[in-house]
Amino acid sequence: MPHTAPVHTRRADAVPLRQVVPSLLRDPAQALVEFGERSRGEVVKLNLGSFRPYLVTRPEHLQQVLREKAANYVRAGDGLQWRPLKRLFGEGILSDGEYWSNSRHILQPLFTARRIDNLVDRLAEAIEDAVDELDAPARAGQPVDMGTEQARIVCSAIMRVFFADKISVPDAMKIMQAQDAIAWSVMPRIMVPWAPLAVPMPGDRAFRRAVRLIDDTLMPIVRASRETAESDGDDIISTLWRGRTEDGSRLDERQVRNDTVAMVATTTETTISVLTWLWPHIEQDPLIAERLYEEIDRVVGDAPVRREHLRELRYTRQVLDELLRLYPIGWLFPRRAVEADVLGGVRIEAGSTLVVSPLITHRMSMFWDRPEVFDPDRFAPERARSRHRYAHFPFGGGPHQCLGMHLFYLEATLIVATLLSRYRFRLQRPAVPGIKVAAALRPLERVELTLRPVRSAAA
Ligand code: HEM
Repeated sequence: MPHTAPVHTRRADAVPLRQVVPSLLRDPAQALVEFGERSRGEVVKLNLGSFRPYLVTRPEHLQQVLREKAANYVRAGDGLQWRPLKRLFGEGILSDGEYWSNSRHILQPLFTARRIDNLVDRLAEAIEDAVDELDAPARAGQPVDMGTEQARIVCSAIMRVFFADKISVPDAMKIMQAQDAIAWSVMPRIMVPWAPLAVPMPGDRAFRRAVRLIDDTLMPIVRASRETAESDGDDIISTLWRGRTEDGSRLDERQVRNDTVAMVATTTETTISVLTWLWPHIEQDPLIAERLYEEIDRVVGDAPVRREHLRELRYTRQVLDELLRLYPIGWLFPRRAVEADVLGGVRIEAGSTLVVSPLITHRMSMFWDRPEVFDPDRFAPERARSRHRYAHFPFGGGPHQCLGMHLFYLEATLIVATLLSRYRFRLQRPAVPGIKVAAALRPLERVELTLRPVRSAAA
């Protein structure tokens, strides 16, 4: 459907190149937020040389792009973030069009709220088992790297429950390291998106090496699963092999590979990255830590965490929402306008790229009071209700809304509740690290902690 422009449209204001590039190179997270502040919620153009995407920050505009006119704003395969990453994920659940809709249709039933709720006890047990391994360093007072420990805990739970142990935990950890290398090595291409792929850039070689490692690890597993898919349970890889596309055919090996790689990345990396920020924030704010500990002690006590506890852990959920506000791991997801449109009074030409970033909207003072302060009370139910749906949109929205949202809240709550019901924590370097902007948002420094078992602490 053609989008007709009202009479009084205008051209977008532009943020000039001489301001955009140096600040992006200095501190990308800060620079992005400053562009947002400067836009005052209007649709503006960022001048990145030959590439000039529109920046969209206002919740009403985001709703139009992500949901109301989603058919006109497609996931940009040639945009900022997806083109570099497309070399890893290819066509499938993380692309758009027919490939995407076939994958989405096949994978969606695995992640419905009801199915995930049914998996709670299995996830809880797997997490409990993985957390047991922290007892030894806790008793010895030996510091642990929380990024690595969370990766181990998440991989143990996810590989058992969603991949039927077809991928071993050590293999999953190797893949995580490769994902880490990828997240970092694509940054030059994300920051200089107009550079042709044929022109070599820093990071390219590390990127290729990491993709090869992921393929070498996963391809034999993907191929072997094809043989057993019909009799297997509903792990992700078998489900992909058994799935039917709209015209009744099967996915080909390439797409099963692409979706397996995508699902390993999304089910692990996301939760780990977000939770790593919890520790510095609760160390910095003892009142928040105290409320969190009080809730978990009251609801869970010294029993293992179970399904019936989750609904009661309301403050824990607010803490997670506040972490997702400040550190939304999907920090940038570009869209391409198929046809011309008008957004907030600004003419959008067909074919142009739009930058949508929860990191920016979530930190703009127009939409949030004292946005830099970590304050889980923002998500107290009555305050959350009065806010625009797209003021807080860490999981996106519309047809591409994150498939794993329910899983995230459930799994993250289980992990936080299990850890905090068993240990008290002390940061080795008590400060909230800066943000390392890569394909994900990571702390600039490692988050190292010492743990104290709660039982002996109480004694
Ligand atoms: C901290 C947790 C997470 C955050 C912040 C997050 C964020 C997002 C966002 C913003 C999108 C939309 C991207 C776009 O519109 O272009 C997305 C899509 C997606 N997420 Fe997540 N995600 C998280 C966890 C997970 C988990 C645990 C899974 C596991 C199933 C997952 C699987 C996916 C998939 C498959 C898509 C693509 C959906 C589609 O295009 O149809 N995510 N996620």
